[in-house]
Amino acid sequence: MISFPGTLATSISVAAATLFGSSNALSIGFPNVFDSLNAITFGSSDIAPFDSCPIDIPISCTNSTPIENSCCFESPGGIMLQTQFWDYYPPIGPNDTFTLHGLWPDNCDGTYEQFCDDSLNIKNVTDIILDEFKDENLYKKLQNIWKNFNGRDEDLWLHEYNKHGTCIKTLRPNCYSDKNYIKNENVYDFFNISVNLYEKYPTFEFLAEAGIVPSLDQTYTRDEIDKALSSKFGGNKVYFKCNKYQALQEIWYFHHVRGSVKQENFQQIPSMMNTNCPAEGIKFIPKNGFRPPPGTPPKPNPPGLGKGYIKLSGKSGCLISNGQWYQYGTCAGFQVLESTFGGYNLKSSKGYCGLNSDNQIVCHSGISPAKFQFQLNKETKQIGYGGKFDWCFDSEHKHGSGRFVQVPIKLGSKDCEDSIKLTFQA
Ligand SMILES: *[C@@H]1O[C@H](CO)[C@@H](O)[C@H](O)[C@H]1NC(C)=O
Ligand SMILES: *[C@@H]1O[C@H](CO)[C@@H](O)[C@H](O)[C@H]1NC(C)=O
Ligand SMILES: *[C@@H]1O[C@H](CO)[C@@H](O)[C@H](O)[C@H]1NC(C)=O
Repeated sequence: MISFPGTLATSISVAAATLFGSSNALSIGFPNVFDSLNAITFGSSDIAPFDSCPIDIPISCTNSTPIENSCCFESPGGIMLQTQFWDYYPPIGPNDTFTLHGLWPDNCDGTYEQFCDDSLNIKNVTDIILDEFKDENLYKKLQNIWKNFNGRDEDLWLHEYNKHGTCIKTLRPNCYSDKNYIKNENVYDFFNISVNLYEKYPTFEFLAEAGIVPSLDQTYTRDEIDKALSSKFGGNKVYFKCNKYQALQEIWYFHHVRGSVKQENFQQIPSMMNTNCPAEGIKFIPKNGFRPPPGTPPKPNPPGLGKGYIKLSGKSGCLISNGQWYQYGTCAGFQVLESTFGGYNLKSSKGYCGLNSDNQIVCHSGISPAKFQFQLNKETKQIGYGGKFDWCFDSEHKHGSGRFVQVPIKLGSKDCEDSIKLTFQA
């Protein structure tokens, strides 16, 4: 995903407080449903668990007690984002259509999981949709509206499933009936459901109805776009993002979900993020009309940040090449590289960096850059992961002594003593 603007922490805690506030009230009314949920977990026979989900099941993110491993309650990723691109340079997809970016499960507090289960990863979407499920209609839609900016659409589909689809817990194969499950049905469903939800939100038409149409000289205000989109989204704020030229670039529709994602019972909720677009002067650039000003090389994505050090807020020293904190030694050089679909890769002389099963940063030659995407706040240069920008020392697992002590750094959690920010310094 995208690096968050500096104000996000505040806006999220406010939003989260609101969500949890209403949640307590809701869950009090459903004690029995929660009891019975535990029974509805994994497939046993001919009835898929999600086919027996209670109709009055609480909506995702409205529980006060954790419910895990249910096929009827999406958790922890109870917020589903339907995301769309406006790729005007190079122009991608039909000139009167926002293209589909993805269907993303976010946690209720706005953080998110990614690449959740290697055993579910897929290698070829075309084979599944076209050869195994013979759905030419769905496949044509994917080709038409689920577009990668570099033309390699299948790469984007694979990435979207492996990064986000594997995190949708109510679409796991074991939430289907043992007897009737067809191999890769869960994958097919992910793509079908993603397209179905996308088709509910023809953003181009929503905007056009309010007179907001692509133009090389007209600009629009934040309020105009806000109103045009929220009036089509149950009065809920829709997130829209601008690129560095103040031009409209992405649209995100936020939802909760009742029951299994398979049941497609999505509930519209207000965006948990504030737009980064200016109050006035927002451009909506035509796909068929844009020419970059002469002399400016066409670079839709800024490259990575090159080489530098990773420093820790309020501490001396920095990270060394294995990803651990070393207070006195020489800093290791790290590269922050833009990865293919929006995130960033960290790399030291030992190899790419990722998180191990204890959520510690590790860098070595066995880490695949496709599996670990960090985030970078472009203004503060802080490094994050999965929507979290707080890190902490894993002092329990430090090794060496005195001046030679090395301390693992792990992703922030509730049991952190003090939270640290990691900052890239070129
Ligand atoms: C899209 O392209 C078609 C054919 O070139 C053109 O007729 C139409 O006006 C264009 N629409 C927009 C919104 O640019
Ligand atoms: C997926 O399979 C199709 C058909 O079997 C093939 O043409 C295509 O190259 C494969 N794509 C990838 C990314 O392997
Ligand atoms: C795919 O979605 C469509 C709705 O557009 C639905 O009619 C169809 O049943 C879905 N396919 C499957 C196999 O669920």
